[in-house]
Amino acid sequence: MMSAPTQSLTVSLGAPAHGARSYPIFVGSGLISTAVADIFNSVLPSAGKQILIVSNSTIAEHYLPTLIANLTAAGIEREHIQQALIPDGETFKNLTIYSEIMDVLVKHRFNRDCTIIALGGGVVGDMAGFVAATWQRGVPFLQIPTTLLAQVDSSVGGKTAVNHPSGKNLIGAFHQPAAVIIDIDSLATLPAREFKAGLAEVIKYGVMADANFFAWLEENMPLLLSRDAEALIYAITKSCELKARIVAADETEQGVRALLNLGHTFGHAIEAATHYKTWLHGEAVAVGMIMAAYLAVQQGYLARTDAIRIEQLIDAAGLPKYPPKNISNSEWLELMARDKKVKHGKLRFILPTGLGRASIFSDISSDALISVIESL
Ligand code: NAD
Ligand code: GLY
Repeated sequence: MMSAPTQSLTVSLGAPAHGARSYPIFVGSGLISTAVADIFNSVLPSAGKQILIVSNSTIAEHYLPTLIANLTAAGIEREHIQQALIPDGETFKNLTIYSEIMDVLVKHRFNRDCTIIALGGGVVGDMAGFVAATWQRGVPFLQIPTTLLAQVDSSVGGKTAVNHPSGKNLIGAFHQPAAVIIDIDSLATLPAREFKAGLAEVIKYGVMADANFFAWLEENMPLLLSRDAEALIYAITKSCELKARIVAADETEQGVRALLNLGHTFGHAIEAATHYKTWLHGEAVAVGMIMAAYLAVQQGYLARTDAIRIEQLIDAAGLPKYPPKNISNSEWLELMARDKKVKHGKLRFILPTGLGRASIFSDISSDALISVIESL
């Protein structure tokens, strides 16, 4: 059987004084075992020898030996590759673990010409990226995302962060990777629930930016759920293309990049109300997109038939459609008011204005919000 060909695309970014910052994204099968060292040599030709791989034990068990074998086969000496395996879970995306990774870099005398490799989901990627952003004021890093969510969202665009006890991602930096290497084979071991949570972000791109992709997802959701290689490569590449275009236009989220947060204001409220324990981020975003769609219908921005299609696609992906029932109206309003998108004291909502289109609105009344919350 022929394997689907590797796709590549570029995140185009402006060139500061020290050189261009654009970087490639590769999407294919077997890349961890065959391509990482070549990509490393081509994107970082003058990098030093030291490499730190950040991962966690769940992921390392499956993919770390393969990654190290690929690097050493290409001539990188084993003694120059260190690893920092962090505990598995969102609660460990914190300053304590960050500091422990810094200790590894200190212990092994890492220089400024070292490279950090993130091998894992969004937690590992955000953490490794923040380490790379801050070690000796910034060193290059490669993203090797292993969850669908990380492959279509968190590994692209340079947002890196750790959590503070009072809020998610409060401590962070924009630091773009030198390359993103997406090996769809790594999805074989991803639990079904995590896979579906990633599909929510894939659907998000169709809703907010590409009606044809939305229609493709309606046609091909069963293939994607069966993790068909060709369908996965198409959907991941398309998602990365759409994200790359937005990041290129607005790297530090002064405007259009906020559209990527479609569904997130409601979604973050669900995650916070349930203490980040029972809902996965993608599940909350899925419900948040449905809520945003019906809010858009209520405000006259979206046809009800389009909102129904959004809801049906989310349902077809096996994602939840309804928010938890035990969040009171006042709790909803309070949690949404804590959203990072609040500007000048005003809540801002990303609402779909058609399939493949979205805009930012800041004039939604509390009554309107409550009527949508109560309707679901
Ligand atoms: P995650 O990193 O916690 O991974 C989910 C689970 O899957 C973990 O238990 C992990 O160990 C496991 N796992 C990962 N890859 C696996 C594989 N191939 N096989 C088996 N198990 C595997 O969760 P996530 O959804 O990938 O990422 C969520 C994080 O991403 C959050 O911290 C969120 O804030 C962040 N995020 C960042 C951005 C950004 O732009 N930087 C965007 C979205 C989300
Ligand atoms: N995940 C939203 C962003 O990267 O901006």
